[in-house]
Amino acid sequence: MRRSTAATPGDQAPDAPGHRPVLLHPLIENLQPRPGQTAVDGTAGAGGVTAALAGRVRPGGRVIAIDRDPDAAATLRQRFAGDPAVRVVHGDFADMESIAATCGVTTADCVALDLGVSSMQLDTAARGFSFMLDGPLDMRMDPGSGDTAAAIVNTYEEDALATLLRELGDERFARQIAREIARRRSQAPLHTTRQLRDAVEASIPRRAWPKRINPATRTFQALRIAVNRELESLERGLQAALHILRPGGRLGVISFHSLEDTLVKNALHVAATACLCPPQQSHCTCAHRATISLVNRKVILPDADELAANPRARSARLRVAEKLADGT
Ligand SMILES: C[S@@+](CC[C@H](N)C(=O)[O-])C[C@H]1O[C@@H](n2cnc3c(N)ncnc32)[C@H](O)[C@@H]1O
Repeated sequence: MRRSTAATPGDQAPDAPGHRPVLLHPLIENLQPRPGQTAVDGTAGAGGVTAALAGRVRPGGRVIAIDRDPDAAATLRQRFAGDPAVRVVHGDFADMESIAATCGVTTADCVALDLGVSSMQLDTAARGFSFMLDGPLDMRMDPGSGDTAAAIVNTYEEDALATLLRELGDERFARQIAREIARRRSQAPLHTTRQLRDAVEASIPRRAWPKRINPATRTFQALRIAVNRELESLERGLQAALHILRPGGRLGVISFHSLEDTLVKNALHVAATACLCPPQQSHCTCAHRATISLVNRKVILPDADELAANPRARSARLRVAEKLADGT
C-alpha cells in the first residue's frame, strides 16, 4: 500500500498553530524516536515536529526544541507549557551542543532540521519576509541580531549586490536588479518590501518574468539567506548534529532550495566516505574515516497527496543519516 508522506493524525498535534510541517511522516518514521530517548528539534517553529517527536519519546524521554526566532520560542513555550518532555530554547541550531549542555544533555538519539522560514514568519508583514505583504525590509529570523535586508540593499556596492543575488538567489537578472536598486536608492533608501518588489519587477522585462513564481522570489530568497547567514549556520549545524548524535542515532534534514540541499548532500556524503584521497592515489594518506551511513541513497520527496494538500511541499527534500557505531 502506498503510504502518504502527509502527516498522520498521530504525528500531527491537533492544535498545531499557523504552520503545517512538510514531510512530517517520513521524517518521524526515519528518525525512529522511541520512549525514553532524547531528541533535538533544531528548527521548532510552530512545534509540529516537536509535538510528533514528543509523542514518540514519552514516557521518560525529552525533546530540546530550538528556534532562533524569539516570537517562535515564545509561542512554543506557551504551546508546550506544562509538558515536561519539551524544553524550548531560543537559539541557533549551529550552537545545539552548547544549548543541549545547558539542558544537561550531551548526546541525542535523533536530530531534526526542517530548514527555511515558517508560515508565521512569512505571513507577518512586520517581519519583512514576504513580497506578498508590505512591511519593513527586515527578514531577520532573530530581530535581536545582525543586519536587516534594508541595510544590505542600501549599503552594498552594486557589484556585491549583483553577486549576492546571483549566488544566493540563482537570479539571472542579478545585474539589472542591482543596477535598478542602486539607481532608486540614490534618490531615497529602500525601506519596505513593496519598494524592493517594485524595483525587481521594474528590472526584469515582462516577457522574461518566471511563469510559476513571482519575479521577486529569487531576490527575496537571496537576501533572506544573506541576512540570516543561513548557509554558515547550516554548515555548523550539520557538524554539531553529527557530533551530538550517539552511535546509531539519526539526523533528518528537510531543505527547500537547491543551495541548502546541495550543502546537506555534500556534507553527508563526506561524512559517509571512508577515504577522501584522489581516486588515482594508490594508498590512503588522508586518515579520513566514515562517521555516518546514509539511510536513504535517494532523497525523499513529498508524494502527490502531500503536494496537493500543501503547496509549500513543492520544493521539499528530506535526507537522513545514521551515526556509525564507531563514528564518534
Ligand atoms: C520551516 S520552519 C520549521 C517548522 C517546524 N518544523 C514546525 O513543525 O512548525 C523553520 C523554522 O526554523 C527556524 N530556523 C531557521 N534557521 C534556524 C537556525 N539556524 N537555528 C534555529 N532556528 C532556525 C526559523 O525561525 C523557523 O521558525
